[in-house]
Amino acid sequence: RVPTVGIDIGGTKVMAGVVDADGTILEKVLTETPEKSKSPKVVEDTIVEIVLDLSERHDVHAVGIGAAGWVDADRSRVLFAPHLSWRDEPLRDRLSERLLVPVMVDNDANTAAWAEWRFGAGRDQPDLVMITLGTGIGGAILEDGQVKRGRYGVAGEFGHMQVVPGGHRCPCGNRGCWEQYSSGNALVREARELAAAESPVAYGIIERVDGRIHDITGPLITELARSGDAMCVELFQDIGQWLGVGIANLAAALDPSCFVIGGGVSAADDLLIGPAREAFRRTLTGRGYRPEARIAKAELGPEAGMVGAADLARQVARRFRRTN
Ligand code: BGC
Ligand code: NA
Ligand code: ZN
Repeated sequence: RVPTVGIDIGGTKVMAGVVDADGTILEKVLTETPEKSKSPKVVEDTIVEIVLDLSERHDVHAVGIGAAGWVDADRSRVLFAPHLSWRDEPLRDRLSERLLVPVMVDNDANTAAWAEWRFGAGRDQPDLVMITLGTGIGGAILEDGQVKRGRYGVAGEFGHMQVVPGGHRCPCGNRGCWEQYSSGNALVREARELAAAESPVAYGIIERVDGRIHDITGPLITELARSGDAMCVELFQDIGQWLGVGIANLAAALDPSCFVIGGGVSAADDLLIGPAREAFRRTLTGRGYRPEARIAKAELGPEAGMVGAADLARQVARRFRRTN
């Protein structure tokens, strides 16, 4: 029943926390993700520092990492990460050598799906599909109490399905990926473009950042949308629509009972989920003649990835104790 540490390493933020066995967060810290241009060692040092700091106040028996990247089938290496510097990085062993406790590494959306299934919106569901909207789009498929990883560990990379042929460039190497149209990055790119073009709908946000277009961030767009700023509301409608179309495609492929929408961008609630539900209903194949999946907001919010990583680490630690 001892607490474990969960760390969600996203494209822009690192969220770490001490979490107990029923998913309660005992302490949480938030820092910025080291830039992509920095070496993987810098990210590793950041993780080690955070864990050592938390260990001063808590008895930490295992550490779980939810990483914004493609984790191999053994859950030991990060094969690739579009928004981070990891390239075939042996993250699990590097960390367990330095931390001297069992370490679990998984994809950030997989850990979020696990948390929502254990403690959140998916509690009473036999299956769910998780979609996290942050810097990019993360995905996970959970069936019969297990995250489906595919043969090589990288199932659920929904964010890199092509939705616009010849569309925006993506750091994964392709063009027109779903996450280029429905994510925090997409919001910020569109808002900055509108501001740079001095579009009349952008006057509000331009004034708010004193003309410094680079100060436009996702949280600011969310805040303005909530207070009724027309441009920001529209931007959420746009990415919500793309979200709904993508969900309809996933329903065609996977037919789950429930989609759970998480990640930082989902803090916008109905501004995002409303348009997504509408577009989903308009796009679903065979609509009217099939049961429709529920589209729910993540109950653990942006903390799902961290809570899930901590919980999966607890499982790994238990197995580790049994075999040693
Ligand atoms: C990455 C995924 C990650 C997602 C959310 C995507 O760009 O390919 O591995 O889960 O971003 O962080
Ligand atoms: Na995933
Ligand atoms: Zn891509």
